[in-house]
Amino acid sequence: MSRREFLVGSGATAVSFALPGLMAPAEAEPQPLRHFTLRPGKAIAQLVPGNHPPTPVWAYNELVPGPEIRVTQGDRVRIAVENALDEETTVHWHGLRVPHNMDGVPHLTQAPIGPGERFVYEFDVPDAGTYWYHPHQRSFEQVGRGLYGPLIIEEREPIAVDRDVTWVLDDWRLERDARISDDFGNGHDMSHNGRIGNTVTINGQVPDSFRVKQGERIRLRLINAANARNVALDFHDHRPWIVALDGQPVTPHEPINRTVVLGPAMRADLVLDMGGDPGSRFTITDTFYRDLEYELIDVVYDPESLRTNALDAAIALPANTLPEPRMSGITRHQIRFNGGMMGQMMMGQMMMGGNMMNMMREGKMWFINGVAASDHVMEPLVTLQRDQSYLMEMINDTAWHHPIHLHGHSFRVVSRNGIATPHQEWQDTVLMAPEEKVEIALVADNPGDWMFHCHVLEHQAAGMMGIVRVSE
Ligand code: C2O
Ligand code: CU
Ligand code: CU
Repeated sequence: MSRREFLVGSGATAVSFALPGLMAPAEAEPQPLRHFTLRPGKAIAQLVPGNHPPTPVWAYNELVPGPEIRVTQGDRVRIAVENALDEETTVHWHGLRVPHNMDGVPHLTQAPIGPGERFVYEFDVPDAGTYWYHPHQRSFEQVGRGLYGPLIIEEREPIAVDRDVTWVLDDWRLERDARISDDFGNGHDMSHNGRIGNTVTINGQVPDSFRVKQGERIRLRLINAANARNVALDFHDHRPWIVALDGQPVTPHEPINRTVVLGPAMRADLVLDMGGDPGSRFTITDTFYRDLEYELIDVVYDPESLRTNALDAAIALPANTLPEPRMSGITRHQIRFNGGMMGQMMMGQMMMGGNMMNMMREGKMWFINGVAASDHVMEPLVTLQRDQSYLMEMINDTAWHHPIHLHGHSFRVVSRNGIATPHQEWQDTVLMAPEEKVEIALVADNPGDWMFHCHVLEHQAAGMMGIVRVSE
């Protein structure tokens, strides 16, 4: 089934009429209900072009990435998941503020979907933006084998652009015959920087070139779906403007060093004015890892131009509906991240104490406030009162980067190492550098037990996961 067929087959808008006594009260606005079907299962994908063999993957609807789910802010979606894998799965709607029972966390918010079973998710989409979906069951392998897809919520009044383009980035560890290496969850990946691969794809293919026209304005939605790879995209002499992070609008700004940094699970919406000459080309490089820079993709200008001057239109996105934390008298919590190998090991041994050292011997490598998770059900790290504001002081006591993600909420990133962030950006995943201290603030307005974890999926699996409870 092609992407187009999927969209035609199951993406058509249906209006749900309020049936008295069965659905919404008669006076409620009929809300568009959008239907989708996702079928996780085994498939084959041509990740590496040329005469390389295709790669056996796990995929939604036989596509890598899975089909784009694209709806409008305020819609209601109903997504049936039919599990064609040989193992249990769930689907999590990363970054969307959904009710707890729709969040897709096995055992915590729902029973896992067994092989051959079906589960129907249904929720409203309160916020516009760029999100994604993926399993939350053994995600280090399920996501690593190709289960993920883009989830785009359009603004009711979007900004004017010539093209709206989504790039889902992934990083694969392939063997010479293009098969996925089966060494998922090995101790080295778990205890160091996760499963860093050897093949980076955009939308499920090793990219070659991307064609543009002079004068074109492109909204480029970047999604980092890799298990562990951070990226820092350098647009050479072009100047991307960041207009949203993790789906949430931000004051349009140019990134530091003109480089767009995304940890695993993070997203950025860029506005790119294509100012080059017709017929010219440039290369986008990924410079995150020192001495391991590589050329990601060539951008190639068509011989004809679209316009000679940049489009003269506003690029700031309309605000979403997030509640603003009240900073005065805000309740504070401290959250400390420990563990991992190298560098801090000696320090770690001294500071962590015997219990953590024993756990590391059992394969639990990472700790939040001294606890390593073994599954999704556990005592909460903190309990927050509904609708109150909280500030979390997060301390990275490790030698590694960690993209820390909270379910059910977005938060403002307020400061880094004691210095206020210039944009006080909303995020659902914040990349913490080694030894960094980051403060985030939020209103705990969504009741339930929410996962709070590192999105390096090997770190998550080796313990770097906890629960933030928001009381009813
Ligand atoms: Cu993107 Cu807990 O996940
Ligand atoms: Cu999430
Ligand atoms: Cu981590």
